[in-house]
Amino acid sequence: MAKSLGPVKRKFSPWTDPTSVPFIRFENITKRFGNFTAVENLTLDIYEREFFALLGPSGCGKTTLMRMLAGFEEPTEGRILLQGKDLAGVPPYRRPTNMMFQSYALFPHMTVEKNIAFGLEQDKLPKAEIAARVEEMLKLVKLEQFAKRKPSQLSGGQRQRVALARSLAKRPKVLLLDEPLGALDKKLREETQFELTDLQHTLGLTFLIVTHDQEEAMTVSDRIAVMDKGVIMQVATPAEIYEAPNSRYVADFIGDINIIEGAIVSNSGAASGGVMLDCDGLKIAVDQECPASTGDRVAYAIRPEKVRLGIEPPADTAVNAAAGEVYDIGYLGDFSLFLVKLDDGRIIRAAQANIQRLVDRPLTFGDRVWVHWSRDAGLVLTR
Ligand SMILES: Nc1ncnc2c1ncn2[C@@H]1O[C@H](COP(=O)(O)OP(=O)(O)OP(=O)(O)O)[C@@H](O)[C@H]1O
Ligand SMILES: [Mg+2]
Repeated sequence: MAKSLGPVKRKFSPWTDPTSVPFIRFENITKRFGNFTAVENLTLDIYEREFFALLGPSGCGKTTLMRMLAGFEEPTEGRILLQGKDLAGVPPYRRPTNMMFQSYALFPHMTVEKNIAFGLEQDKLPKAEIAARVEEMLKLVKLEQFAKRKPSQLSGGQRQRVALARSLAKRPKVLLLDEPLGALDKKLREETQFELTDLQHTLGLTFLIVTHDQEEAMTVSDRIAVMDKGVIMQVATPAEIYEAPNSRYVADFIGDINIIEGAIVSNSGAASGGVMLDCDGLKIAVDQECPASTGDRVAYAIRPEKVRLGIEPPADTAVNAAAGEVYDIGYLGDFSLFLVKLDDGRIIRAAQANIQRLVDRPLTFGDRVWVHWSRDAGLVLTR
């Protein structure tokens, strides 16, 4: 479950400014392999200095999208523009991008510094400049004392940092990171995430990152694109994606959520009563503008931490409330997740922070309880 929305983000939101020009634009991009469509009519803008994350299940087209930007694949249809210039036909080495691959490989027989220098030597940079850049990179990723070691003499995390230094040494304007932290354990991963954001801010680069880890995407990125089968379902900030998913798919993909299917009973706009839903007898009132009419099938989505849980019934039991019993409890350290089985058999997930409350008897299995929530706690999803 995504508990935090990451560190307080810098003030940076060029996508909200209609006058700002995107740095990278994917314009109606389609990529087919034979008759299989890996990316379908996808349009996406990324801004200079943005930390942008691609999130989605395996096979949804993330790597393919990156490879097209890096120049390793040509789009079947559409254009990729960099600062307004079409990249079609520009070979990878002439693009201001560098890609750190999903399964990056260091050269085992070369020392750390040789690995970092490799691309620069290929480019035939003057020796003194190569040495200076290698030193700068070693310092950046805090591996100065490991310069003479071989990759086999490093930990997984250190190797990952060498790969990162090697990708950065050529000073790409855009760094493409395909699962860069995949090999690291959770603790090192978290540390490296902060190093990555630091690096990105310090160097003023544009980062495009692919990750399977939604918490990681939430932590590091300015915006996230959630993909499904070659299309983008939603592009938004981590907080927006979490608080206002635009579909059942995105709601379900990010974090833990209750999704309750139902139909619109009435819809009179947020200012005058909002939306009333009937979810198989459960009446749900929502303060929300919603483009749906009476009778439409929709879903109501509410995060477990927005569901209140108690032995006593709430003041109003007619709407946004249901009775049931505690069916399962998951202890997750800072909070507990209660699975409440409603009298009609549906399960509602409710999270409670584990703060000591000496007066209350802790809830336990089989307890009769009420779940209830406020009118602004969840949202109606129309797709
Ligand atoms: N060269 C290729 N030839 C045929 N099909 C390909 C090729 N490259 C990718 N595909 C297919 O395109 C789809 C998207 O692949 P891609 O590598 O972009 O997925 P992904 O989102 O990066 O997945 P993962 O998270 O597993 O890395 C997959 O179904 C894949 O099998
Ligand atoms: Mg991939």
